[in-house]
Amino acid sequence: MTDSGIIDHRLTEPDAAPSDPPAFPIPDNVFAEKVVLVEHFTDRLFRFRITRPASFRFRSGEFVLIGLPNAERPVFRAYSVASPAWDEEIEFYSIKVPDGPLTEHLQKIKPGDRVLMRKKPTGTLVHDALVPGKRLYLLSTGTGVAPFASLIRDPETYEKFEEVILVQTCREVGELTYITRLVTDLVNDLLVGEMVEGRLKLFTTTTREPFERMGRITDLMIGGTFFEQTGLPHISPAEDRAMICGSMAMLKDTKAMLEGFGLIEGANNAPATFVIERAFVG
Ligand SMILES: Cc1cc2nc3c(=O)[nH]c(=O)nc-3n(C[C@H](O)[C@H](O)[C@H](O)COP(=O)(O)OP(=O)(O)OC[C@H]3O[C@@H](n4cnc5c(N)ncnc54)[C@H](O)[C@@H]3O)c2cc1C
Ligand SMILES: NC(=O)c1ccc[n+]([C@@H]2O[C@H](COP(=O)([O-])OP(=O)(O)OC[C@H]3O[C@@H](n4cnc5c(N)ncnc54)[C@H](OP(=O)(O)O)[C@@H]3O)[C@@H](O)[C@H]2O)c1
Repeated sequence: MTDSGIIDHRLTEPDAAPSDPPAFPIPDNVFAEKVVLVEHFTDRLFRFRITRPASFRFRSGEFVLIGLPNAERPVFRAYSVASPAWDEEIEFYSIKVPDGPLTEHLQKIKPGDRVLMRKKPTGTLVHDALVPGKRLYLLSTGTGVAPFASLIRDPETYEKFEEVILVQTCREVGELTYITRLVTDLVNDLLVGEMVEGRLKLFTTTTREPFERMGRITDLMIGGTFFEQTGLPHISPAEDRAMICGSMAMLKDTKAMLEGFGLIEGANNAPATFVIERAFVG
């Protein structure tokens, strides 16, 4: 346990063998990787890191399917890779759903355990799906911040945009810990530390627990409070680009808001001024 009350389990021997040999055969299209770190933030949020297979390539912002080697036909679920494309390990930021087919087990993983990862990454929250612009808005709720934890650590983000504005809205203050600490620590990062200084802005809000900034981002942007508080100009298609990741309801409302500002939805095969991805189904 650390001073902040966060439980941090790091593998003490990085080369230690996984605790048990796999009980079920590992299919050809799947990597079986070793857990190297698990960190719990709240009773429903944690992050973990696994070893990275040498042949695994992905673009920052993409997602993969992951599972556990606990059955002949294991449950696989989509997960955004939260680490950047250059990282030697792969990081995930996860929900713990009570009785969730995957996460009721995934939340119990420890360093040395194995996690399965399908070999093919995919997704629309990638630089290739946006046309060039001046500012990049990364708009998220809950675990929808995961792909943006990847993108804000990628030098390409700062090569393509002058300013990056990362927004996360959660119900409670404790749910903001992961991204707040990541952004705070980023100025000390050897690769992107100098690039982020003065150019990466984090705007966090809560909706159900008192905090210094409160409200849904849609309400704060449409009402103008966001622009008054940050000093940023109103979003315009001439200068601004955006990526959205959250629940279906959040995607629907945020997409409508951006379209109201004049932005147009893009895709990998048709880049435009904003892109969207679901943070979960349901
Ligand atoms: C493209 C994509 C990327 C995703 N990336 C991530 C990620 O990076 N991190 C992550 O934790 N999940 C992510 N998810 C959700 C993930 O695929 C699983 O749904 C989640 O791990 C729960 O799995 P489960 O089997 O325990 O429960 P499920 O049967 O999958 O879900 C049960 C219910 O829990 C709720 N739920 C599921 N996931 C979430 C969530 N993330 N936040 C809030 N409520 C949720 C929903 O109401 C859902 O109906 C992503 C989903 C998609 C489609
Ligand atoms: N977070 C928790 O503490 C908690 C605890 C137990 C169970 N759960 C369950 O877990 C599931 C997911 O919860 P979650 O909190 O991760 O995700 P969520 O319900 O999508 O809420 C995350 C944040 O997004 C905001 N939001 C929701 N709809 C929006 C929209 N249309 N536009 C803009 N912002 C929007 C929410 O604000 P509002 O608060 O205004 O909706 C909240 O701040 C839910 O079924 C929930 O019942 C959550």
